[in-house]
Amino acid sequence: MNIKSAKFIVSNQNAKDCPKSDLPEYAFIGRSNVGKSSLINMLTNNKKLAKTSSKPGKTRLINHFLIDSSWHLVDLPGYGYARASKSEKKNFQKLITDYFINRNQLISAFILVDVRHEAQKIDIEFMRWLTINKIAFSIVFTKIDKLKQDGNPNSGIEEKIKNYKSVILENWEYLPEIFLTSSTKHIGKENILYYINKLNRDINQK
Ligand code: GTP
Ligand code: MG
Repeated sequence: MNIKSAKFIVSNQNAKDCPKSDLPEYAFIGRSNVGKSSLINMLTNNKKLAKTSSKPGKTRLINHFLIDSSWHLVDLPGYGYARASKSEKKNFQKLITDYFINRNQLISAFILVDVRHEAQKIDIEFMRWLTINKIAFSIVFTKIDKLKQDGNPNSGIEEKIKNYKSVILENWEYLPEIFLTSSTKHIGKENILYYINKLNRDINQK
């Protein structure tokens, strides 16, 4: 599966100003610097579509991208940017929560998590908040190229994912959909696009 066209539509500071379209929408969210914008660029085969940076706090607005004239990808600011001021953090939090509460056309959120870290409280709390608000989500592990793949199940990616799954199962009865990605090595694109395509087809058949 490949995306044929990806077009930047608009950046907004407020959920209420976002496009009034009924097209199905998928949003990428997670801690600052986790690789949300890079993932969008990998999925769309366009290195310059979403702005990325090695410094956290790059994406500051709600960015809508129109994909194949039929659905939207949304790049959001990260949460938990340690160096933001208290009022900035509050503003970002409001922007993010307003977006998720108000976007009825949102089909699913993708929570991005850096595969190198243990489960972080801020991510689990955000997943809990989505669950309470009846918003579907899946988990995307990013930067898998940064972990050793030496075949030893206890030292690399497998161990990290196993531990993460057990934290999820302490909080939820079921595991969400899980994706493993590397934007630099172009890993995981097919699975995510296949999943979105399937959800889009399910909507069209309703
Ligand atoms: P904010 O917009 O600041 O919240 O960050 P973001 O989540 O959009 O992250 P962004 O895509 O800007 O990437 C942050 C940094 O991580 C950049 O230096 C990227 O090059 C790097 N990065 C992103 N994905 C990967 C990956 O899969 N592998 C590696 N090695 N680096 C990555
Ligand atoms: Mg970004």
